[in-house]
Amino acid sequence: MNLYGRSFLTLLDYTPEEIRYLLDLARRLKREKHLRIGHRHLMGRNIVLLFEKTSTRTRCAFEVAGRDLGMGVTFLDPASSQMGRKESIEDTARVLGRMYDGIEYRGFSQNTVEVLAKYAGVPVWNGLTDQFHPTQMLADLLTIDERFHRLEGIKLTFMGDACNNVANSLMVACAKMGMHFTACAPASRFPAQSLVQTAREIAEKNGGSVTLTSDVSEGTRDADVLYTDIWVSMGEPESVWKERIDLLSPYQVNQAAFANAADEAIFMHCLPSYHDLKTEVGMQIYQKFGLTEMEVTDEVFESARSVVFDEAENRLHTIKAVILATLSKQ
Ligand code: CP
Ligand code: NVA
Repeated sequence: MNLYGRSFLTLLDYTPEEIRYLLDLARRLKREKHLRIGHRHLMGRNIVLLFEKTSTRTRCAFEVAGRDLGMGVTFLDPASSQMGRKESIEDTARVLGRMYDGIEYRGFSQNTVEVLAKYAGVPVWNGLTDQFHPTQMLADLLTIDERFHRLEGIKLTFMGDACNNVANSLMVACAKMGMHFTACAPASRFPAQSLVQTAREIAEKNGGSVTLTSDVSEGTRDADVLYTDIWVSMGEPESVWKERIDLLSPYQVNQAAFANAADEAIFMHCLPSYHDLKTEVGMQIYQKFGLTEMEVTDEVFESARSVVFDEAENRLHTIKAVILATLSKQ
């Protein structure tokens, strides 16, 4: 398997074999990290991380992964670079591509990350756009595989805002890996029809399926994984909160949903999550609308079914695998 020089912009560009290869590599790097076996395979190389939106996991995973591989890492936020305001994406890409071996981008438009990749001349990795969050998918697939020792045939139900970046990406990831994906949401928050059609075509080839339903009992029945994400994503106006709460409250992941799922079902969330009142936004929503928890109950979040911190840790190992695979001729 040779992924040298490739960008990682959406899982649509990767075959199931390539995804499996990245997961295997991540598993090896995780084992080495836990055993404190160094893997400074990219000594003396450099990467730059461009963040137009905030981040804890993705930024830290790229920074630690880069350093574990022996690389120099530069972090740039919009306030500290010329990108976008004084310099076009095309020009920024050509400048950074002369200095760095790889570029990570988190921001709004999927087109921006595509343009970066077109002009940089070095691999570009998508750290989340409004449309996709592909590095999150590798961590999620690794976490599911660690729990169930397989991906094929696993039934994953995404409850809530099923047209956001994480849900779009999960639908594609499941289709690629022969899993059964269900979007359980109001019809107005189903993924875009064109992406559903693409995912269905991919699923058919790999023995998976894509189902859309607004019926919670149908959507959660016998699910192996119940997955959710926040109801209002980064970049969306605060004014949509009221409408989202009204629309998505019935799709909260709670004990009733789990009672209908498979016996060994697990709970997943890309994080961050509003499952209590220990966040500023969570508190504001409570004061305005009286909700003490949103997309998932605190009970489920803190339960033994919840694998959210395994998922978070796996961001590191899988992102490291993407960097290593795309920057080295192995
Ligand atoms: N899941 C995820 O991408 O988290 P961050 O926004 O903290 O990077
Ligand atoms: N859908 C969320 C994911 C955060 C990791 C957002 O875009 O804000």
